[in-house]
Amino acid sequence: MKFFIDSADISEIKEAQALGILDGVTTNPSLVAKSGQPFDEVAKSICSVVQGPVNLEVISTNWEEMVAEARGLRKYGGNVVVKVPMTADGLKAVKQLHEQHIPTNVTLIFQPIQALLAAKAGATYVSPFVGRLDDISQDGMELARDIITIYRHYDVKTNVLVASVRNPVHILEAAKMGADVVTVPLKVIQQLMKHPLTEAGLKTFLDDWKKVKV
Ligand code: G3P
Repeated sequence: MKFFIDSADISEIKEAQALGILDGVTTNPSLVAKSGQPFDEVAKSICSVVQGPVNLEVISTNWEEMVAEARGLRKYGGNVVVKVPMTADGLKAVKQLHEQHIPTNVTLIFQPIQALLAAKAGATYVSPFVGRLDDISQDGMELARDIITIYRHYDVKTNVLVASVRNPVHILEAAKMGADVVTVPLKVIQQLMKHPLTEAGLKTFLDDWKKVKV
């Protein structure tokens, strides 16, 4: 399973990269706004340090403009994946971009058939937003599981990218169901490596070492 960081903050991206676990980056307009930096600077700085897929989202709502915007986003790097919203225009844009060999990520997926449609249009990735479903008392990981089941039935090659991840259990469940990618905020990445027995065990080793004659 690939790990992307869900962030437009270059210092967070570099921190995840230093851990040796980073396969790519996802951003969205809200994350870019949160970074406080102009979009052009954000896109350039991320693409200058990340070799893997860098997901940048269009803000157009009609397909012709999405396609034109996608071509502009791809100028930041050959590793840019164009995020497109799950709308009729989004699907039309995905079809065009697929024909032009430009990778896409269909975002804001909240039900499994949306993911099937995105795959048929030629999406490279689909992003089920699991946390936002949990927020309204629906099981977000059930959505991811259903998409994976449907894709396996039809040997669909589109990658399932579990997004809107809020906690380590989302990631455990994603790995158990065979999701292709999880995109994770830095705070949750940092939670993943912690265990109280690891911390207690390390403390004991270091305390015992003080008793060793050197
Ligand atoms: O990148 C899109 C997605 O991960 C958003 O997450 O926490 O805003 O629901 P969140």
